[in-house]
Amino acid sequence: MAAHQEPASSGGGPPRRPRVLLAASGSVATIKFEGLCRSVAEWADVRAVATASALHFIDGASFPDGVPLYTDDDEWSRWRRVGNEVLHIELRRWADALVIAPLSANTLAKVAGGLCDNLLTCVVRAWDYSKPVYVAPAMNTFMWDNPFTARHLAVLRELGMSIVQPVTKRLACGDYGNGAMAEPSEICKTLMLFFGPQHL
Ligand SMILES: Cc1cc2nc3c(=O)[nH]c(=O)nc-3n(C[C@H](O)[C@H](O)[C@H](O)COP(=O)(O)O)c2cc1C
Repeated sequence: MAAHQEPASSGGGPPRRPRVLLAASGSVATIKFEGLCRSVAEWADVRAVATASALHFIDGASFPDGVPLYTDDDEWSRWRRVGNEVLHIELRRWADALVIAPLSANTLAKVAGGLCDNLLTCVVRAWDYSKPVYVAPAMNTFMWDNPFTARHLAVLRELGMSIVQPVTKRLACGDYGNGAMAEPSEICKTLMLFFGPQHL
């Protein structure tokens, strides 16, 4: 993978398309990840990362053709010896923005604690915070209301990450309450506002 570094807003010729790294963790809301990838890919170059748990909710066969989906296996199968590319560093270098949607309670806790034991959390741990990170939490209301959630989100805000707030509705488990991931259209709109009309 080539590591492109020129900014999306570089002067001179027309700006290149934004490069958005979309990541999914193990929430049932990952069933909406494919749709989010399709929407963002209409105006940006998209690469995707999924945790091992997220893969339970992704249908590889219907995943958009132009969006490479990277997993923990790719991180290790690509590396054989010193000098080979390290996937999480290449993805971090390539992307103009990182979006974690959905963000599970588990990945939220790991990111807040600086843990990096899979491809997604390694990207975050290596992130250049001059570039934006958006996270869209998604979890059952009991998990959302647990005091750890507010503590962990406070750490993410302190790091400069933006939270796309979850919504209140009937959840996949049948409970009614807050914690459902914001709609992909909302997440896409938030990103489009960041990149601005000149890129769209
Ligand atoms: C069917 C199912 C649905 C789940 N939905 C959620 C969810 O919406 N949010 C969440 O935080 N965890 C959810 N979990 C639990 C996570 O998958 C679990 O904590 C996992 O370790 C997350 O791993 P990851 O953060 O590495 O993706 C669910 C588990 C199952 C079996």
